[in-house]
Amino acid sequence: MASRYVPYIAALVVVGLLGTRALADDHLVAVTLPELSELAQQGQPAFGANCAICHGENGSGSDKGPPLIHKIYEPSHHADMAFVMAMRNGVRAHHWPFGDMAPIEGLSLTEMEAIIAFVREVQVANGID
Ligand code: HEC
Repeated sequence: MASRYVPYIAALVVVGLLGTRALADDHLVAVTLPELSELAQQGQPAFGANCAICHGENGSGSDKGPPLIHKIYEPSHHADMAFVMAMRNGVRAHHWPFGDMAPIEGLSLTEMEAIIAFVREVQVANGID
């Protein structure tokens, strides 16, 4: 009787689905939070309010934007000025398939510096420097 194969087929389907899901999620990273400096502590909620919707909680990535806790965004590839430019002017999609990033309105330079300090400290804590 073919029905005795059903559990095996079901298991294969589940494994197949999990496999696809893992592929779809491979731009998401696990992020460890370090003890933050005072400046980075100010940046954390600003990041949460302005960036996390796309870049994920603590920069871990989402289905709308890439992780910033990623080798591509280490200081030698994307210096602090690249972060300021991204926030001020937006970003044309070039590294990822998520589309463009619109400029983030209403951030002062002080807030941007705090956000960058937050991202940099989390990067370092996750081996990206
Ligand atoms: C609406 C979604 C969205 C929001 C909100 C957003 N970003 Fe982005 N951001 C993106 C996407 C998508 C990219 C990737 C573009 C590419 O390279 O394909 C990106 C790229 C970047 C880059 C790389 C710039 C470069 O030169 O390649 C930086 C830095 C960045 N974002 C910082 C931030 C910061 C900081 C915030 C919050 C103040 C923020 N983003 C908010 C979607 C977003």
